[in-house]
Amino acid sequence: MTRTYAVVLAAGQGTRMKSKLYKVLHPVCGTPMVEHVVRNISELGADKIVTVVGHGAEKVQEQLGSESEYVMQEEQLGTAHAVQQAASLIEGLPGITLVVCGDTPLIRHETMQQLIEHHQDEKAKATILTAMAENPSGYGRIIRDAEDNVSKIVEQKDASPKERLVKEINTGTYCFDNEALFKALKQVSNDNAQGEYYLPDVIEILQKQGETVAAYATDDFSETLGVNDRVALAEAERIMRGRIAEKHMRNGVSIVDPASVYISSETEIGRDTVIQPNVIIEGTSKIGDDCEIGPSSHIKNSQIGDRTTVHSSVVTSSTIGSDTAVGPYAHIRPDSQLGDSVKIGNFVEVKKSALGQGSKVSHLSYIGDTEIGTNVNIGCGTITVNYDGKEKHVTQIGDDSFIGCNSNLIAPVSIGKGSYVAAGSTISKDVPEDALAIARARQENKEGYVQKLNLKK
Ligand code: UD1
Ligand code: CA
Repeated sequence: MTRTYAVVLAAGQGTRMKSKLYKVLHPVCGTPMVEHVVRNISELGADKIVTVVGHGAEKVQEQLGSESEYVMQEEQLGTAHAVQQAASLIEGLPGITLVVCGDTPLIRHETMQQLIEHHQDEKAKATILTAMAENPSGYGRIIRDAEDNVSKIVEQKDASPKERLVKEINTGTYCFDNEALFKALKQVSNDNAQGEYYLPDVIEILQKQGETVAAYATDDFSETLGVNDRVALAEAERIMRGRIAEKHMRNGVSIVDPASVYISSETEIGRDTVIQPNVIIEGTSKIGDDCEIGPSSHIKNSQIGDRTTVHSSVVTSSTIGSDTAVGPYAHIRPDSQLGDSVKIGNFVEVKKSALGQGSKVSHLSYIGDTEIGTNVNIGCGTITVNYDGKEKHVTQIGDDSFIGCNSNLIAPVSIGKGSYVAAGSTISKDVPEDALAIARARQENKEGYVQKLNLKK
């Protein structure tokens, strides 16, 4: 079988982004652009992926890890110069090389596969992935001869007024015969408007040598969007968001208003779950079957079981079981584990706490650094007093216990199984199992006091 290599161009600073963050690390639906590109190539089963890094090299490598090998382009002298840096790893090897820009996150692996197949069918030395653009401004234009064969690519800045009218553009994705590529790269000059070594010049070089140069035109321009600035970044986000929503809907998830919903590319959602408007699901999140999420919820890096509802609430880096209800207006902060059939009601904040099956915190509470057993009822307004100004302390609440309204549990403290805490208590000592703890001033009624006051007048 033909060996397949891939070179990903990711060394540019991305000046037009006007950003501290290197261009290819800007996220689209939560995943850096270059990672989308490398993942798509991995799907193809390439034998070797080489990413050309320069600006932000360490950060790019940190992000991609062992998904790719790396070569350094010290100075960004152009896309041909960038590919040349991969010579140490692949020059002279028989096989085909896919070159993809790190700033084109929307090109699907299916399209890359079709490009490779077309390249092989045409027995070409180079095949360009092209698209028809309504507004081709900024892209290299595909120039064809009288027989409709590709003769060269001209960059926007080097194009004549007539060439600028051409709507067929270079997507920046190519397939090359690997040996021919590295031979042709040696002949590329930087005699052009930008003084750069252009990879597209390889096309004209090969064509003039009488080699077969082909083009594979995709009919979906939206795939080929190159992200050079924040306007294009938002456009890429919109397109990818639409794709992700469509994927979930085709898998059996109802999304009431896809335009108002943001789901990361790494989220999994089960069947018959309904996503209401204004929902954001970020990071690596997993939501089970038959859930109802939203309206207006923000979930990040969290796992949710089946038949659970999360209404107008924020859930971060936490795990929620099945048949559980969260919200409206609850805040589940990192490292929390809510079990099955748990209820977290309005204006409740939970931080780094575990709640066992069937436990309820229905209204206006703060639960921090707390382990709550099963079937516990936490009354309205209960506070776990976890912070002494220096350190955080743990509260433990045993199974089947009942904490009355407006209690303060001063940690470290432990409430035994099956015990009761009277409403309004400030608990500073451990409560044994099956006990009633009352820690509040005893009420005194002054009989007839009102008349006494009146007499004084
Ligand atoms: C490039 C193509 C253009 C095509 C467009 C598609 C060239 C000269 N032009 O233009 O024909 O229509 O992509 O999106 O290739 N990079 C390096 N090292 C460099 C220069 C660039 O690694 O020295 C990387 C960048 O990080 C980027 C990619 O190559 O990921 C493309 O570079 P960019 O400057 O965005 O090229 P375009 O002007 O978009
Ligand atoms: Ca670009």
